[in-house]
Amino acid sequence: MTDRFEIRTFGCQMNQHDAEKIRNLLYHADFREAASDDPRDLVLIHTCSVRDKAENRLYTELGWLGLEKRDNPELLVGVGGCVAQQEGARLLRRFPQLDFVFGPQNLRHLPQLIDLARQRRRTLRIDYEDDYAARFELPERHPEFESASPGRAFVTVMEGCDLFCAYCVVPKTRGREVSRPSSAILREVCQLAESGVREVTLLGQTVNAYGRARPGRVAGELPFAELIRRVAAVDGIERVRFTSSHPMFVSQELIEAYASLPELCPHLHLPVQTGSDRMLQAMNRRHSRDDYLRIARDLRVARPDLALTTDLIVGFPGETREDFEQTLSLVREVGFVDSFSFKYSPRPDTPALRRSVPLVEPQEAQERLEELQQLQRSLTLQAHQRRVGESCEVLVEGDSRRGGGQKSGRCPYNRVVNFVTNPPLPTGSLARLQIIDATPHSLLAVEPDDAAVASLPLI
Ligand code: 5AD
Ligand code: SF4
Repeated sequence: MTDRFEIRTFGCQMNQHDAEKIRNLLYHADFREAASDDPRDLVLIHTCSVRDKAENRLYTELGWLGLEKRDNPELLVGVGGCVAQQEGARLLRRFPQLDFVFGPQNLRHLPQLIDLARQRRRTLRIDYEDDYAARFELPERHPEFESASPGRAFVTVMEGCDLFCAYCVVPKTRGREVSRPSSAILREVCQLAESGVREVTLLGQTVNAYGRARPGRVAGELPFAELIRRVAAVDGIERVRFTSSHPMFVSQELIEAYASLPELCPHLHLPVQTGSDRMLQAMNRRHSRDDYLRIARDLRVARPDLALTTDLIVGFPGETREDFEQTLSLVREVGFVDSFSFKYSPRPDTPALRRSVPLVEPQEAQERLEELQQLQRSLTLQAHQRRVGESCEVLVEGDSRRGGGQKSGRCPYNRVVNFVTNPPLPTGSLARLQIIDATPHSLLAVEPDDAAVASLPLI
């Protein structure tokens, strides 16, 4: 009988994409995904350590798996991702139910780790991979492997980070910044386009640093803006996105790409973290508030309808009420369509942890977070309401979380659009719809013919 696996993933898009790569690798190793009531032979937890919440979830899950393993000693349990890299051997020591631990750079060794686990040998594989090209090259999609998102795909173009923002564990868990050869990226995009993919998201921790020559390392052959151009030129590719970017690497060429490349979606996720120059400096972000505002202005000159989203941290050590108000005012001034905001979470081995600046009171940090999120909700709702009546192109992703037979997809601005059509549109297809309503979370759309009916006054 075929062995069955389950994979549980926490974390960012990079981590979600790594989980997809792992699923594909497991298909090649003759595993198949367990249905919800199937017995499982292998459970993998793919972790994130950017904030302590995700890390704590891992420990809870491992507790449950320990109990399960008492009843089913054959069950294999592995942990991958950023917590695996960070904690390494400590995990194996602390959790006897764990068979193997592997870091984000060691995905391709997974089949070997599983073999060893079957021989009851517990292994740790968290070495930083020196063979950069090999690290990115994994087997092609297995014929039976179904993507979780037909019509769109993520493509890793670089990994790691050399910036060392004071709060961030990523340079430690994902290692140094490495760009993948451009030729390999374009080859993968061509294969994806042939298999029906219409939208590609280029992925990397500081994706727009792509191609930067770093001492002792091979740079990508093309500058980032040129890479985007080549990806957009691939037959069948209609939308290009990239995430996550850093303000320091928004080059003139990238801004120009927004002006001249219709395939480059009018949305940019550009983390700013804080609106206070004092905090930007304390965080080692390497840019000022004014730099960010100038970049936002230049981008909007190039693409007037550009939707900007961002990441924000509140309660970084030393943040005063005045600093926080600078964040509120920046959010208003830029008019972010959406943002992800977090309370500062102290992480192991980060520069901020070594400083003696006092933490912001948890209660105060919580209040700041709520105030910021309330402001963002109202800005998001306003941005959504401005779009009611517009026509928009949606890439269909599947059933809507709202149920009721609704489908869901994303518009070029990366907003969730819910809709019902008759007949239902297939997942992965592109459709032109008309927006008829807005909430802080999503837009509601109908087929253009229905829009006239939907907008008639109800008597
Ligand atoms: N505490 C809180 N938020 C963090 N992020 C990264 N590290 C931390 C931390 N220690 C946030 C940043 C980043 C996003 C991916 O997670 O906003 O952009
Ligand atoms: Fe972390 Fe800063 Fe690198 Fe982003 S740019 S991964 S926040 S160190």
